[in-house]
Amino acid sequence: MAIDIVPIREGLIEGFHAALDVVARERLYLALIEAPPIEAVRQFVCRNIANGYPQLLALADGRVVGWYGVTPNSRPTEQHCGVLGMGLLPAWRGRGLGKRLLEQTLQAARAFGLTRVELRVRADNGRAIAGTPDRGLPAPRRPSRWRLSRPDRDGALV
Ligand SMILES: CC(C)(COP(=O)(O)OP(=O)(O)OC[C@H]1O[C@@H](n2cnc3c(N)ncnc32)[C@H](O)[C@@H]1OP(=O)(O)O)[C@@H](O)C(=O)NCCC(=O)NCCS
Repeated sequence: MAIDIVPIREGLIEGFHAALDVVARERLYLALIEAPPIEAVRQFVCRNIANGYPQLLALADGRVVGWYGVTPNSRPTEQHCGVLGMGLLPAWRGRGLGKRLLEQTLQAARAFGLTRVELRVRADNGRAIAGTPDRGLPAPRRPSRWRLSRPDRDGALV
């Protein structure tokens, strides 16, 4: 099935919210354990759109199946840096879609003017980490027990 990669827009916020909720509820990958309320997500996304932040969605037959985006830091001394966020619905993982999205998102981040992109990720999340050092993200460091959302999984920051 053909996948379209498009900038997020208001009409796709509900689809993004639903995809975010699925990935958050897995409790394996994100800082969230469920999506924030739809109105909070709408406000966040509309602000990002207004600011021109790089935020892309993957659509399969018009349905949101994943997102990649970089949110710039707000501190005046850190506005050249942004934090990468991403997720795909389970059925769409491991097929190279993340790689396509990463390339396009980092390209959009550079075009926006960001010169540093950071990733907060569990150390055991190979698919999220793979490829990032080659694409200019900072070298990994590993504080232990940084984030816990499941008792059987340690958190680590890379
Ligand atoms: C992280 C995620 C977006 C990556 O997208 P994806 O489409 O699954 O990844 P891809 O198939 O494009 O593979 C990306 C890279 O991981 C590698 N890879 C694929 N499967 C892998 C595995 N099981 N273990 C390690 N690396 C793997 C690929 O070779 C590729 O590396 P390369 O860029 O050096 O060639 C997706 O897996 C996902 O949504 N995971 C759950 C949510 C998540 O982890 N979000 C990030 C939180 S920080």
